[in-house]
Amino acid sequence: MSSIFGSNQTHLPPSPPGLPILGHLTKIPSTEQWKYFLKTSDELRCKLTTYKVLNQTIIVLNSKESIEALFTKKQDVYASKPPRKMSDISDLTMTLPFMDPGEVFTNARKQFHQGIGQAEVGTYNTDYEVASRSLIKTLSGNLECKNLTETIDDSLGHVFLKVSTGYNGPETESVLKQMNDLAHFAADVLGDKYQIFDILPFLASVPKSVPVIGPKIKLGKQWKNNLHSIAATTVRLTQESQKQETVSVMSNVYKAQGSAADGDEQSKMIAVTMNAGGMLASESATLTFLLAMAQHPDVQKRAQAQVDSVCGNRLPTMADRPDLPYVDAVLSEVLRWVSIAPVIAREVTEDDHYDGFLIPKGATIMANNYAISRDAEVFPDPESFVPTRFLDESGQKLRQDVLHPMEFAFGFGRRTCPGRYLADALLFSHFAHILKVFDVALPSESEKAKRAADAELKVKSNGAACRLESVYVTLAPRSAEATVLINQNASSANGQADGHANGHAH
Ligand code: HEM
Repeated sequence: MSSIFGSNQTHLPPSPPGLPILGHLTKIPSTEQWKYFLKTSDELRCKLTTYKVLNQTIIVLNSKESIEALFTKKQDVYASKPPRKMSDISDLTMTLPFMDPGEVFTNARKQFHQGIGQAEVGTYNTDYEVASRSLIKTLSGNLECKNLTETIDDSLGHVFLKVSTGYNGPETESVLKQMNDLAHFAADVLGDKYQIFDILPFLASVPKSVPVIGPKIKLGKQWKNNLHSIAATTVRLTQESQKQETVSVMSNVYKAQGSAADGDEQSKMIAVTMNAGGMLASESATLTFLLAMAQHPDVQKRAQAQVDSVCGNRLPTMADRPDLPYVDAVLSEVLRWVSIAPVIAREVTEDDHYDGFLIPKGATIMANNYAISRDAEVFPDPESFVPTRFLDESGQKLRQDVLHPMEFAFGFGRRTCPGRYLADALLFSHFAHILKVFDVALPSESEKAKRAADAELKVKSNGAACRLESVYVTLAPRSAEATVLINQNASSANGQADGHANGHAH
């Protein structure tokens, strides 16, 4: 047995044909690599596949079993991220997504877990509800959905800043603008925009005057200053809101540390990390929801009917969640249908073996999350948007025997998304509110928009994250009563912070 399954295997998983030296550099497409990886895995009839890019070995895991066997069951060996030189230059390594495992990493994850873990996320129910009321009010002034992405980002940003620092006041807009720019820069660093420094590391030390590369290094250093300046601002805002005894993740950390309100270097980054880690993913899920509703009026009507039957003539609250399983199923299907993080990369830190193959130390290992979402045995007719796949036969209860996106859409093992319960609660609140007051439709006037919406889903990707490229939808208040609800005081929420945000037990 040991010669086949023991620790002395030397074969890498199979590869498609490549070129000498360049390997598969020219074969791997620059967008939607996950589709190419899945197709190649099917062609080679093997769930694990190997690619060579110059001197780098990349092994792609195309099944849930292999991803769990490695990322989840061998967390010690699969918790590192492939190095990103730009994250060193810009100090993004002080934020969780770019941090190497170790004491600081463990502490940062603990702070997130204690702040917005499953048990704590309900503390902020009122904040989600207030944000959802404010979102529908803003959307009602822009029914053509121009600047849709900005409107959604602004709403999400308010929640992240409020939950992390307790602050909501005159400085919010200017802080959010800086945070949003930072989130985009971080996404580029996590993706492949600055990968040249990782392929040719000596470039990171060339003088600033060298064309092309010099300005990139300068940019990284500017972002380092910005990062620390934004973090310092969030500490100051936390101190301000502490005077009003507002509960927040950062103020709880400071209280627990029993220190002055600016705490250790690590906890200064909580608000920044929440925003940079959560913004683009949650934005993408909201856009996907709107497009799915516009494309599937039958699904939308059924979800609206459930919200109406539970809420009558009032807006939904987080306390309604257990009675809104269909809305929960819509949220699950949104997370499955468009994988927000279709491939998740790690660096394996020791030689390992799986299924008869060698996984060599230093290789980049990519979990193909998209492959899980398209597994027809788990999700029949996987390209279709079918929320009922998450409900039992009565259509009234969430199934416990179907793979839930909480188990894969948010990643795996030691680095599983620490914002997943917050994302789940906030998205639920936003979706339920939109369903209660608006009809979402494809714009009938614009042929261009129709074509974009009818075509195969087109996504923007930067190697690490993806989102829909263009979402053309319009909104209309469902009734005169809906307009009254929209115009209710957006800053008040009628829900209870009952500590029970997510409707699905995980
Ligand atoms: C629909 C919304 C979201 C999705 C689909 C999502 C998905 C993910 C995924 C796939 C990862 C990588 C996990 C891995 O490497 O195994 C991740 C990491 C992360 N997410 Fe999220 N996320 C979402 C929202 C949020 C929110 C709201 C926050 C913060 C409040 C957040 C904070 C983070 C952070 C800090 C990391 C880095 C964790 C680490 O490297 O240890 N995410 N997320």
